[in-house]
Amino acid sequence: MMSNAAATIDSIRRDPHFLRLKAMVIDATGLAYYADKDAAFAERINRRLPFGRITTVGSYLAALEAEGPGGAEFQGLINELAVGETFFFRYIEQFDALRAVAIPECLRRNQASRLLRIWSAGCSIGPEAYTIEILLKQHFAAQLEGWQVHIVGTDINGAFLEQARRGAYGDWAVRGLSPETLEACFDRQDRLWAVKPKYRQWTSFMPFNLVDGAIPSYPHGIGHFDIILCRNVMIYFDEATRHRLLGDLHKALADGGWLVVGHAEAGPQMNELFIPVSVPGATLYRKQVEPPVATAASRRAAHGPAAHGPEPVAPVPTSGLRRSGKPASMSAADSAAGLPAGPVSGPRSRKSATPQPAPAQPHPVETDERSTALEACLARVEASRLDPAAHYQLGLVEEELGVGDPVAAFKRALYLDPRFVLADYHLALAYWRRGRLVPAQRHFRNAREALESRSDDEAVTEGGGLTVQELRGMLDLWLNGEEG
Ligand SMILES: C[S@@+](CC[C@H](N)C(=O)[O-])C[C@H]1O[C@@H](n2cnc3c(N)ncnc32)[C@H](O)[C@@H]1O
Repeated sequence: MMSNAAATIDSIRRDPHFLRLKAMVIDATGLAYYADKDAAFAERINRRLPFGRITTVGSYLAALEAEGPGGAEFQGLINELAVGETFFFRYIEQFDALRAVAIPECLRRNQASRLLRIWSAGCSIGPEAYTIEILLKQHFAAQLEGWQVHIVGTDINGAFLEQARRGAYGDWAVRGLSPETLEACFDRQDRLWAVKPKYRQWTSFMPFNLVDGAIPSYPHGIGHFDIILCRNVMIYFDEATRHRLLGDLHKALADGGWLVVGHAEAGPQMNELFIPVSVPGATLYRKQVEPPVATAASRRAAHGPAAHGPEPVAPVPTSGLRRSGKPASMSAADSAAGLPAGPVSGPRSRKSATPQPAPAQPHPVETDERSTALEACLARVEASRLDPAAHYQLGLVEEELGVGDPVAAFKRALYLDPRFVLADYHLALAYWRRGRLVPAQRHFRNAREALESRSDDEAVTEGGGLTVQELRGMLDLWLNGEEG
């Protein structure tokens, strides 16, 4: 026997107007998630009926059509349909990546305007937007002195936005936060966690439907953002809507701006529109500074060898930023030898030659100077995609900073110049640091063999004066000596 409620939901599902109602709502909201969830959709409709004197699906549909998506009842229904799961510092790696790479870049790029604009698109009850303000205030307060910072959270669900504006949350929204973070960022109000007023100064909220109407929308202040977070929103949309929205978000970014999406939301067209920039645990998507002018050949080179090439490599993270010389974060001696300041061994540093255990997690970038070094290398790769030295230098800096994919960068250098011995050497080191001893050994050996027929005094490419004999010595240490 069906319960009364189940029988009512079943009759809503069977109503001849049901499918039209569902299609109309999906069209207005993008929530294709409900396309194959009739029972769930009917249950939400049941929560809204009766609506005044309206009791049938057909008359409810007519009423919604009459008032349109901005109407009060349409809003009430949307509030029932939207899934608002969210919490503070959700996917912490993405916030780490913003802190390490994207925000320092925005601060440099906007030095003249002193304006920083961030959009949490599909913000639900607000934690994502407040997390950004907390991050900025805790890590960039000094640099942002005198800046105008706007963080806008938008959502289709008016009830979520009301809670976002109140800024007070139950335990669920702050789950996983340490007692120190709770203490630092929230005031206890009865049984709620209220975001401290100092972390609510730059953040505001407003309704905005991501699938209905134009983006950018300058009258609503939607456009020219430095960073857009649109996470766990597009998973509820169908492919066509997602595709269109990605194009819109691209247009709503300033040149050089950054997009962050949920882990399940980065489809293949992301890489056509954006430049993927990989950092440990997260990938950020960057809008190119200038329209892409890459030829098919240079794009192939930038994205690594074709399927028949020697080894698969990851896409190149590139940037349109200016080129600014030698990576600042290397010591002079190391950079002269083409070596990063990390645990690199060789005859010149025999005392400290014993390699250190590979760190479990590469350390994050911490200073402006370091990000500048990375940018310089990214810009060089962008400008000279077929230059093996550019990829090699990028690999060195990425390895040192613990960002990007240095293994892929060294592989690209080797692909472009198979005789690039230092690229082999550093590829081996990179594998070794990651505990991948077999490929490490292979590349140490490759490098050693490549030096066999070369004369002792010959300078090694990109070695800054390092000779073949010296490099042989370094390789022998790895292959036969105490580090072997
Ligand atoms: C799962 S929450 C994501 C919250 C937050 N971005 C996060 O990742 O923690 C998805 C949000 O997208 C909103 N949303 C769904 N469709 C939307 C639309 N067409 N326009 C704007 N927001 C929408 C929902 O109301 C909901 O608050």
